Amino acid sequence: MKTLYIDVNTVDNVIAAWRSGQCVAFPTETVYGLGADATNDYAVAQIFAVKGRPQFNPLIVHVSEIAIAKPHVVWSAQAEALAHAFWPGPLTLVLPRSLSCGISPLVSAGGETVAVRVPAHPVAQKLLAAFGGLIAAPSANRSGRISPTTAAHVQEELGGLIPFIVEGGACAVGLESTVVDLTGDAPRLLRPGSITADQLEAVLGQNITPHTQSQSGGLHAPGQLESHYAPQLPVRLNAGQVAADEALLAFGSVELTGAACMRNLSASGDLVEAAAHLFGHLRTLDQPHYRAIAVMPIPETGIGVAINDRLRRAAAGRWGN
Ligand code: TXA
Ligand code: MG
Repeated sequence: MKTLYIDVNTVDNVIAAWRSGQCVAFPTETVYGLGADATNDYAVAQIFAVKGRPQFNPLIVHVSEIAIAKPHVVWSAQAEALAHAFWPGPLTLVLPRSLSCGISPLVSAGGETVAVRVPAHPVAQKLLAAFGGLIAAPSANRSGRISPTTAAHVQEELGGLIPFIVEGGACAVGLESTVVDLTGDAPRLLRPGSITADQLEAVLGQNITPHTQSQSGGLHAPGQLESHYAPQLPVRLNAGQVAADEALLAFGSVELTGAACMRNLSASGDLVEAAAHLFGHLRTLDQPHYRAIAVMPIPETGIGVAINDRLRRAAAGRWGN
């Protein structure tokens, strides 16, 4: 199969591919997704095959509007409040599957819950609205690798494995969506993202339980495994100096000197800009002729929490494939 770049005007090709059970990579405001019909077991199995993803890791279902997802989940006042505040946008809600849920059990990794999101990217909106259904989509990278934030990254990851990559420019957010679990007694943050815990708490009017490894037991949200976002090179965090054979991921106006190669996440110290550049810069620096990627400290505030979360995972090593 050859990977083609298509333009949004060729929406019909994407819809036809989705209807016939194929996978198509498409842009969202967070990262590029690898989408297929969430109600088609074969199509969902293709996603796992293309990514080389462990079957126990559940997928996020994408819809153009809430009404399309509602029959498949148990909707709640909390879901309504968060959806009203943040959709379309970079927030994923984990909800109980409804009795009439038509979503493939593979999407839920055999469990009783399903993750749903309404993306804001105009190309995603256009494709999902034209499809009119539910699209399961993980990030469009091979399992265990950095999420793609441009169509060129998707080409690097999955070129030749899927029929289409829809070009949609660089992703504005650049980090995967915030994931909130609404299936328990209290809302739980499963993955930090650009929508922060403070913002969620302000809308819910209650505290949100921060995620920890022990809570999940490694199964509830496998995306939380430490090594999920891994470049090939070792990653050294909070670098106060840099060696001549290291690549430097800098932040702020005062850059360390002496690195073999350098990229700055944001010279002005803007965390939103830093998030948008994170995965692209990690990819650029991840070259075998350097010994390691040294990362300057990033403030643990706002979206900096999510940036540091991804960096800690990157530093924890490889997933294995
Ligand atoms: O921004 C995003 O969320 C991107 C774009 C493409 O939408 N998607 C994405 O998908 O990051 P993925 O598969 O790479 O990460 C989904 C995360 C994983 O950590 C997974 O374990 C968790 O969401 N997840 C999915 N369904 C879940 C469920 N039913 N219960 C708990 N966690 C779930
Ligand atoms: Mg992913």
